[in-house]
Amino acid sequence: AVDAPFTLVIFGATGDLTARMLLPALTALTTGGHLPDNFAVVGASRTELTEEAFRERMREAAKEFGDCDNDAWAAMASRFTYKQVHYDDPASFTALAGFLDDLAKERNLGPNRIFYLAVPPTVYEDIAVNLAGAGLAEETGGYARLVIEKPFGRDLETARVLEKALHTRFAEHQIFRIDHYLAKETVQNILMLRFANAIFEPLWNRRYVNYVSILAAESIGVGHRASYYDHFGVLRDMFQNHMMQLLSLCAIEAPSLFEADLVRDEKTKVFRALRPFSDKDVAEHCILGQYASGMVDGKRAPSYLDEEGVPGDSTTPTFAAMRVYLDNWRWQGVPFYLISGKRLPAKRTEIAVQFKPVPFSMFRGIFGDHIEANRLILRIQPDEQVSLTFQAKAPGPMCLRSVTMNFNYYQGYTGAALTAYAKVLLDCMLGDQTLFWRQDGVELCWKFLTPLLEKPSAERLFLYKSGTWGPQEAGRFFSAHGLVP
Ligand code: BG6
Repeated sequence: AVDAPFTLVIFGATGDLTARMLLPALTALTTGGHLPDNFAVVGASRTELTEEAFRERMREAAKEFGDCDNDAWAAMASRFTYKQVHYDDPASFTALAGFLDDLAKERNLGPNRIFYLAVPPTVYEDIAVNLAGAGLAEETGGYARLVIEKPFGRDLETARVLEKALHTRFAEHQIFRIDHYLAKETVQNILMLRFANAIFEPLWNRRYVNYVSILAAESIGVGHRASYYDHFGVLRDMFQNHMMQLLSLCAIEAPSLFEADLVRDEKTKVFRALRPFSDKDVAEHCILGQYASGMVDGKRAPSYLDEEGVPGDSTTPTFAAMRVYLDNWRWQGVPFYLISGKRLPAKRTEIAVQFKPVPFSMFRGIFGDHIEANRLILRIQPDEQVSLTFQAKAPGPMCLRSVTMNFNYYQGYTGAALTAYAKVLLDCMLGDQTLFWRQDGVELCWKFLTPLLEKPSAERLFLYKSGTWGPQEAGRFFSAHGLVP
């Protein structure tokens, strides 16, 4: 639990992210007893609002998205206050600094402050510059932390520009770059499974692993986010962040201690080992797609081009499948298949580790040459589980069959779970950067993806029917995952 009092300032406090993610997270942390007796939440946004009106919005959000009843809200309400801020106006931040000082004195809050940027990335720089200009980046007697959400730029160059703007005002230890996938229970479990057990790690390498397949499938479409999504597409929206993190957790060496920089040093080594795509092998190693109309969950779904706000000639990919290699001793020659897309048949996020077949079958006279190889699946969503497929004798006459051993993540656990956002907020309050991106990793991943980022020509973008497992052309990637496009 967090002991020291603090003030959380949320920029973009009237927006969707605050209502849907941050409010439920704060509610869960408060009711779960994770927060100190004394803390304050200051909503900041361009909208003119009274404190009462802001609290009323927060009450509604806590109720709708946070399962927070009236009693629970009554215990929290007084912590919420509001200050109108114009992000590009230095005077507005001087006023905010005065407001925060007065609040701290009045409520004995101390100097610890977290600035959460729940705003579009286009205003990150303004806010960082103006916070620093008003003296709010200084850490005198306490901490000043800046929390940002992806996208961290649109490509390597813009990521560096953003980085420069933030770093001249805030030191790296003050910047918390969120990736909510890192806070998902079974994503965290990857490291536990690998490094808190003796039986997996000896097999976790090129000698025994045939390939690894990482799938993040979504049945939803672009929804109301076209103005953001159409500029970013699946490579920037899912690969540069979540998929790269999943890959790194599957591939890293054991750090000597589970500690932020040691874990992130190992991830950086993985990112450095990514074999670059050459211009000529891009088409062979990466298939991009865009959804056409179709049926999803028994309902008619429009094509991407027919979604509200998407230009009729958009070539933004909503699907990508790629084969990636890591040039190091452990993984030489082992393909990692990464697949993610929208409007696929189901929400399903999982990692499949496909082991090599037995070197020789003594049963060949009975069952033929083929024996299914072992497969370990780490299911992240929607149901969290680990399952291992192996061969066993079928009851009765001599006969072999594939069976599966399943571990359901919540089996035998009765305590409360925290959402990914609650966990990242808590870690930020505790100053633990393990679940956050470090800038070197961000840049290495942008660099790796650069050859793929250019808008694909119509010949390089394959349409797929909504509700299917992607374009036919991605068949070889899907068969690795046991799915048929
Ligand atoms: C977000 C992307 O980061 O992750 C969305 O911007 C995507 O496009 C979402 O839908 C998926 O997250 P989750 O937690 O639902 O798997």
